[in-house]
Amino acid sequence: MSVKTTVPPIKCQGIKTKLVPWIKAITPDEIKGRWIEPFMGSGVVAFNIRPQRALLCDTNPHLINFYKSVANGKITSARVRAFLEKEGETLLKSEGEYYYDVRARFNETGDPIDFLFLNRACFNGMIRFNRKGGFNVPFCRKPTRFARAYITKICNQVQAVSDICEVSDFKFLCRGFEKTIPEANRDDFIYCDPPYIGRHADYFNGWDETHENALAKALSKIQGKFILSTWHSNDFRSNEFIDALWSNYHILTREHFYHVGATENNRNPMLEALITNFEAKMPDSDKVETEQMRLLEEAAKYKT
Ligand SMILES: C[S@@+](CC[C@H](N)C(=O)[O-])C[C@H]1O[C@@H](n2cnc3c(N)ncnc32)[C@H](O)[C@@H]1O
Repeated sequence: MSVKTTVPPIKCQGIKTKLVPWIKAITPDEIKGRWIEPFMGSGVVAFNIRPQRALLCDTNPHLINFYKSVANGKITSARVRAFLEKEGETLLKSEGEYYYDVRARFNETGDPIDFLFLNRACFNGMIRFNRKGGFNVPFCRKPTRFARAYITKICNQVQAVSDICEVSDFKFLCRGFEKTIPEANRDDFIYCDPPYIGRHADYFNGWDETHENALAKALSKIQGKFILSTWHSNDFRSNEFIDALWSNYHILTREHFYHVGATENNRNPMLEALITNFEAKMPDSDKVETEQMRLLEEAAKYKT
């Protein structure tokens, strides 16, 4: 495992940048099989754990298409630079209105490079789709969005993912967790980060009690190890599913603060939990803090 921090080019709600050091600290040093993420989101966990082999899945086809395109070389850092320079200039000249042209184009064609543009120019870096599956997040209202330094940062992030895919065996698949989890064998290691109930839902991202029950059932049947991220409690309430579904496992908690979220409610500090089906070595808190500080600095640079 490498120590260099990788910040992915795509942002998403519930991105676990700040939890990576903690997840890394309790992950066994040697994984014989694949690193499997049934809910890959931005991919930040896998890109920092850097396993040799990974299976990264999500129901959102746009996330998967984007990373597939980076992995197969259709989207390169050079192409992203040329694209964002050109589109960024048009955005500036239109005083921001062009964002909505790109959004309409993306909703017609689903082009992954448009998805990157939208993800990095939309309000709060949100990913949200309407009932018809159309991306509907408004513009961040900064026509100067794609300044040279910002484009360079995005290009470096694309390059970093491309470098990882080049030297590792990463497979990206668009599908639900019900298919991914039963495929794991005893040498594989699963990191599960499902949507948190009641916090954010859209066309590709609905999550209710039925899903949570099905996830618990699927994980109870696997032969290998897993880590599950979930929320433990916030100022107002506790996650009732921890007692109902996860109390027979090992539970670690830690405070985590989300920056992405449109409403005040989504910005409240919450206690994060990591649930494991193995006894995790207790992380050396000094090491975790140091790495967390480094990641926070990266994330601050990354913050829009
Ligand atoms: C909390 S996010 C994962 C964040 C990710 N760990 C990160 O750090 O960026 C949850 C992800 O699960 C995906 N998802 C929602 N329902 C799903 C399902 N039934 N099966 C697989 N993925 C699903 C969403 O599209 C979203 O990307």
